[in-house]
Amino acid sequence: MAAMFRMQLILPALVSLALAAAVARATTTHLRFYMHDIVTAESTARPATAVRVVRGVTPLPNDPTNRFGDMYAIDDALTEGPGASSPVVGRAQGYYLFASRTDAALLLSANMLFTAGKYNGSAVAVFARDAIIDAVRELPVVGGAGAFRGATGYGLLRTNTFNASSNNAVLQIDMYLDV
Ligand SMILES: *[C@@H]1O[C@H](CO)[C@@H](O)[C@H](O)[C@H]1NC(C)=O
Ligand SMILES: *[C@@H]1O[C@H](CO)[C@@H](O)[C@H](O)[C@H]1NC(C)=O
Repeated sequence: MAAMFRMQLILPALVSLALAAAVARATTTHLRFYMHDIVTAESTARPATAVRVVRGVTPLPNDPTNRFGDMYAIDDALTEGPGASSPVVGRAQGYYLFASRTDAALLLSANMLFTAGKYNGSAVAVFARDAIIDAVRELPVVGGAGAFRGATGYGLLRTNTFNASSNNAVLQIDMYLDV
């Protein structure tokens, strides 16, 4: 009898804990920003922020520029809007590597560090396959720091503009984060 009574007390407590956890998990933060991948400097205000540091050996089929194994170190500006003079909200710091022998598919490994606003000082870590000609690429979130410590979620990356002569691109990123 006594054991039964305790069970009845404990069960509602467990149920309300489970509900609280479900409510906490349901809070998804959506962030949209733009990443300026500048391979060719455009001006002193817009220097090259994606710099090739490793040159691959094997040319990619139908691609006169890129080779399997090419690696670029990046410190790309993140801005509120797609324009070159849009306010800076952070930096994408890391690298991308041409990781396919046959396709324009990158391994993108970077921290999205925020440097303004509510998330100033916080970062989201992404580790993604970026097939650069696809309309939408998914960015798995592997963690975060600061306000995003322990974050899970994903991003969607879309090419906003691409200049084939300079190889410069502006990429739209939508992040959906659960903390
Ligand atoms: C972001 O935080 C740093 C370090 O605390 C501070 O120096 C800087 O002024 C902040 N920037 C903005 C835009 O709030
Ligand atoms: C594309 O890049 C080339 C070479 O850097 C530059 O001359 C041209 O103005 C750029 N086009 C646009 C639309 O920005």
